[in-house]
Amino acid sequence: MKYLKDIENLSGKKVLVRVDFNVPLKDGKVLDDFRIKKAVPTILYLHKKGAIVILLSHIGEDGKESLSPVVPKLKKYVPSVKFIPTSIFSDETEKIIKDSKKGDILLLENLRSETGEKNNSPSFARALSRYGDIYVNDAFSVSHRQHASIVGITKHLEGYAGIQFAKEIENLSSAFNPEHPFLFILGGAKFETKIPLIKKFLRDADNVFIGGAIANDFFKARGYEVGTSLVGDSNFQIQSLMKHKNLLIPSDVETAKGSKHNFVKADEVSPDEDIVDIGPKSIETLKNLIEKSKFILWNGPLGKYETGFGGATETILKIISKTKVKSIIGGGDTVALISKLKLEDKLGFVSTGGGATLDFLVKGTLPGIKALK
Ligand code: 3PG
Repeated sequence: MKYLKDIENLSGKKVLVRVDFNVPLKDGKVLDDFRIKKAVPTILYLHKKGAIVILLSHIGEDGKESLSPVVPKLKKYVPSVKFIPTSIFSDETEKIIKDSKKGDILLLENLRSETGEKNNSPSFARALSRYGDIYVNDAFSVSHRQHASIVGITKHLEGYAGIQFAKEIENLSSAFNPEHPFLFILGGAKFETKIPLIKKFLRDADNVFIGGAIANDFFKARGYEVGTSLVGDSNFQIQSLMKHKNLLIPSDVETAKGSKHNFVKADEVSPDEDIVDIGPKSIETLKNLIEKSKFILWNGPLGKYETGFGGATETILKIISKTKVKSIIGGGDTVALISKLKLEDKLGFVSTGGGATLDFLVKGTLPGIKALK
């Protein structure tokens, strides 16, 4: 793979930079700008070398949203950025790009507003590539997608890894050769999508602690009552995972019923209760494991963060931030909490990826990495 430093002459070159500005929004405002901030070193590097930087991103799943809410946040770090709100292939967009000069930084509208992006349409990739001389991927967190701006475009332009992209690969790869004791913490939902990850780290890690809604699947498989809690599509494979000596599931949980909260043993949940977080005894167990570990890999929140139950996740983040243990943390919701608590500098590596990080950890590569190679 080639990196930014391998590009010999950037002066006056149009560089198409795929970034991931798919950030959480509320009432038209960016809730967390972590991904935006992480794209800045690549943008400024190219700018300093005299390139014309053309930023490409998606936002939202279906292409209906505009990237305009991202612009004020991006301007905080890159004041001269100019957003082109017209459609990607309009005459106006074409003219602005054609007339752009050395040092300009442009942001095009949501890539997914064109169907060719998600379909990885060869004609869309070719048309996009005509806007630039060089391609840079700094969107590790979308590189698990076979999309035109990630994969197809590399057939037409020389492709390079951006600064954050390279950091993600370097840091996440340390999970393939970790120091021991190695603790893997997995939260979030959708048990069925996480089976390969659980299997892999039951082999490679010394302890695998399960939290979040995935723990509910294990409770259910043990025959415990899970009340109205969210459970995934657990299948026969859960039984074999459950027997593994390295697997730890919470011994107690926080439950909610309307506005009432309770801390109970994991096997004492009532049929009308919802499991919303792990309990204090489980936090203590995890704390002891953290203090004994040399390497921690963590993906996904331990509780229902999205409905206000980020308590255990926050406590554990604070505990890790006070230790010297090497840590790698990822998953959109956990990252939002890290930003809120201003803990980024006190933790090891914080990944911008959600699904991409999980896929990379399981497979050791991603379509976007293969395309650059
Ligand atoms: C993400 O948020 O994980 C990336 O931006 C990819 O978005 P997607 O899941 O909509 O493809």
